[in-house]
Amino acid sequence: MCGIVGYCGPKAASQVLIEGLKRLEYRGYDSAGVCILKDSGFKVIRRTGKIRNLQEALGDGEAGNCGIGHTRWATHGEVTEENAHPHTDGNSEFAIVHNGIIENYQMLKDDLEHKGRVFRSSTDSEVIAHLLAEHYRDSLEQALRDIIPLLKGTYGIAAVTSREPGKIIGARNGSPLVIGIGEGEMFLASDVTAVLAYTKQVVYLNDGEMVCITSDEYRTCDVHDRIIKKQVELVEWELEAIEKQGFKSFMEKEIYEQVDSVQRACQGRINPEAATGHLGGLNMLPGELREIERIRVIAAGTSYHAGMIGCYLLEKVARIPSFAELSSEVRYKNPVIEPHSLYFAVSQSGETADTLYAMRELQRKGAKVLGLCNVIGSTIARESDGGVYLHSGPEIAVASTKAFTSQLTIFYILTLLFARMKHYSLEDGLKFIEALESVPGHLQTILDRAHQVEALAKKYAGFKDFLFLGRGINYPVALEGALKLKEISYIHAEGYSAAEIKHGPIALINEQTPSLFIVPDDHLRDKIISNMKEVKARRGKLIALAVEGDYGVADIADDTLFVPRAHELIYPFLMVVPLQLFAYYCALELGCNVDQPRNLAKSVTVE
Ligand code: AGP
Ligand code: GLU
Repeated sequence: MCGIVGYCGPKAASQVLIEGLKRLEYRGYDSAGVCILKDSGFKVIRRTGKIRNLQEALGDGEAGNCGIGHTRWATHGEVTEENAHPHTDGNSEFAIVHNGIIENYQMLKDDLEHKGRVFRSSTDSEVIAHLLAEHYRDSLEQALRDIIPLLKGTYGIAAVTSREPGKIIGARNGSPLVIGIGEGEMFLASDVTAVLAYTKQVVYLNDGEMVCITSDEYRTCDVHDRIIKKQVELVEWELEAIEKQGFKSFMEKEIYEQVDSVQRACQGRINPEAATGHLGGLNMLPGELREIERIRVIAAGTSYHAGMIGCYLLEKVARIPSFAELSSEVRYKNPVIEPHSLYFAVSQSGETADTLYAMRELQRKGAKVLGLCNVIGSTIARESDGGVYLHSGPEIAVASTKAFTSQLTIFYILTLLFARMKHYSLEDGLKFIEALESVPGHLQTILDRAHQVEALAKKYAGFKDFLFLGRGINYPVALEGALKLKEISYIHAEGYSAAEIKHGPIALINEQTPSLFIVPDDHLRDKIISNMKEVKARRGKLIALAVEGDYGVADIADDTLFVPRAHELIYPFLMVVPLQLFAYYCALELGCNVDQPRNLAKSVTVE
């Protein structure tokens, strides 16, 4: 689930590994460790907490030009030094790092203990090191190949042995692994950001593939030792894109980047002459698109919220029945694939296990699933039947912000494309484009007033519970606002449809539970005002996110933030950014680590 880095080359491995692990910090982790191979044996150093603890423990570094490193996001066993990776066989001959979960580890462990092996951690991962020791004859690669059929679950593994210094073996099933190709040096990592400072040439491994790297070559094969020729790809991201560039945090940077990232998501995808969208990656002819009768979106977390808005829009504007579902639920419900349906798997990382497995289940049953991903070369992007990249640049903060608005942008373009194939006139299309193209300018205005959100956050950060309420196309925005606040400030927040509170949540209202209402000037405004009054009558504090000049709303609320008046369809963009800022400033006020909130990981590659 978390991070892996491996290095073979002329440099001091400890430095490259620490550098790589720091680049992976954004993924969220609780402990870290490295194993450095030396002429005689190897040295393992592990620490709980931040990479700097590990760096301090390493001091000037351990001599050695080959090694593996890991950031752990505990699934089995507490956050302790003993449970941190790398794990060894106990004799300092075999060391491994592992991402994922070995589901049958208990059975394997019992068996190994019977054979006299002594376990030092309570992780599932340690069995891999012992199994390697048991199966090793004269080749680590062969030993790993032999034990793979014994492992059930998901893994990205990097393994080394003191008997074959200068060599790292990797295997992948469900947790990403990528080879970085340098000049006279090779890298193995779970994420390209770990190697970007050294090389842009990479090879992505697929599930069921293995790799052996030394400083000057790599060899990829399947578990039956059949060589697999892989394509070398060039990473498009620049190193600056994964640095803070003067911002206090990645989250702050990414919130501000949205003016550009929304624009980038539109680039080359709007045809003003025909007043329609152009999404080449869909791999579908106009005739095929015209035959689509229903759209389904599968996603998790923030991507699910974007999918909900996308479906609302596709149904309302393009008149295609559309529905977003949590991928974790789709996977196990034995879904029925209706004819003329089109599925979208929406995922920033392109690695989320719930979404990936749901996609595979749908494909197995004959569905056409298109990917909507940000990370180029990610598993969902590669395994989907076509798709669209967000092009928002790397999103480093655990809390997703710019990916959300880019996902929305793609859904707007998709809606335009479908609507223009049906009932939308040229003028309708042009108006829609005008509205979408006005988004970046409005976002800039909102960001210029960020200090107003900051003041509001200072006033409210002390409250323990919040309700976020919206309706229609902005209902998922309320869910997203609540999710952001929970994730990074640890304040309890519930997102609800404003109409729904009278069916239960209104029981929570008192002076200690503020309600934040999203009130655009659309056909639901007056209904939402009635919901606000219901809360006010029960002495609930009211915060409103309203449209510039709407004093009718401001008069009822205790505090109001205004967004620019705009086309009613684009309010989700305009409403979500102040909510991102609100969560951000509340978290700062409470002294939280906004980029790496507790217990969370950036890409969730376990179920
Ligand atoms: C967003 O802030 C969250 N960290 C999380 O809900 C995330 O959106 C979810 O895990 C899905 O990730 P994905 O888009 O990479 O699939
Ligand atoms: N399941 C392993 C553990 O708990 C690996 C976790 C990870 O992917 O970081 O140690």
